[in-house]
Amino acid sequence: MKESQRRAEGAEVDFGFERVRPAEKRERVKEVFDTVAERYDLMNDLMSFGLHRAWKRLAVALGRVRPGQRVLDLAAGTGDMASLLSERTGPRGQVVVADINPRMLARARARLVDRGHVAGVSYAIGDAESLPFAEGRFHCVCIAFGLRNVTRKERALESMYRVLRPGGQALILEFSRLVLPALAPLYDAYSFRAIPELGRIVTGSAEPYRYLAESIRMHPDQSALQEMMERAGFERCRFHNLSAGVVALHRGCKL
Ligand SMILES: C[S@@+](CC[C@H](N)C(=O)[O-])C[C@H]1O[C@@H](n2cnc3c(N)ncnc32)[C@H](O)[C@@H]1O
Repeated sequence: MKESQRRAEGAEVDFGFERVRPAEKRERVKEVFDTVAERYDLMNDLMSFGLHRAWKRLAVALGRVRPGQRVLDLAAGTGDMASLLSERTGPRGQVVVADINPRMLARARARLVDRGHVAGVSYAIGDAESLPFAEGRFHCVCIAFGLRNVTRKERALESMYRVLRPGGQALILEFSRLVLPALAPLYDAYSFRAIPELGRIVTGSAEPYRYLAESIRMHPDQSALQEMMERAGFERCRFHNLSAGVVALHRGCKL
């Protein structure tokens, strides 16, 4: 490893409100998802009152994925996006379901098989920062609620850009900044107090959900993320606020 790379690897990054070494963040993010994997889907429904399903459906609809295309669902978790994408690509297309965490990926496989998504679906363990795919392979790359957890987001964006083919589109669905400040006290109370308590009851641990609330606050806001996408090479970048900016969908193209 070159000295410049070693220095970059050593620089501290956010893990929620803490500053930690990159290797520690990777390890702790893994622990978070190992802890919640079994109850991940139930918690998503409870925390968002089922809204996450609508956010994901909207993201996939705006992605305009067509039959026969090749799509990457990155940080796929338990495979919600992959399932919706596979309905669009059909058996002639391909959905690659990728995640860094084998436990989450195993759940994705079980759920997708259960729903009959078998033909044209494959699985890969991979880090968003250095995707193990050839340049220009995918018509669409999506990452839903994943970028926030990646240690070096700039590298992930560059890697996503690399594996997209010219004319392809990236979809980034992620928690973002509220655009109605009047809602902030309620939102803060809900995310810093109610959600960790719910997490403790449902998964046996409040910590992953404290990290969730903190990591949302540390994630770049709508405009900052759009600028990061532009720096990574994406063009025609734009975003849509969903649920008053609780979540934003960013889109960018490789021309
Ligand atoms: C909050 S879950 C999102 C899962 C799913 N996309 C969804 O919307 O429900 C975040 C996922 O990102 C994965 N992840 C975290 N860091 C990653 C990385 N560097 N590369 C790939 N996946 C990563 C985690 O293992 C976890 O499954």
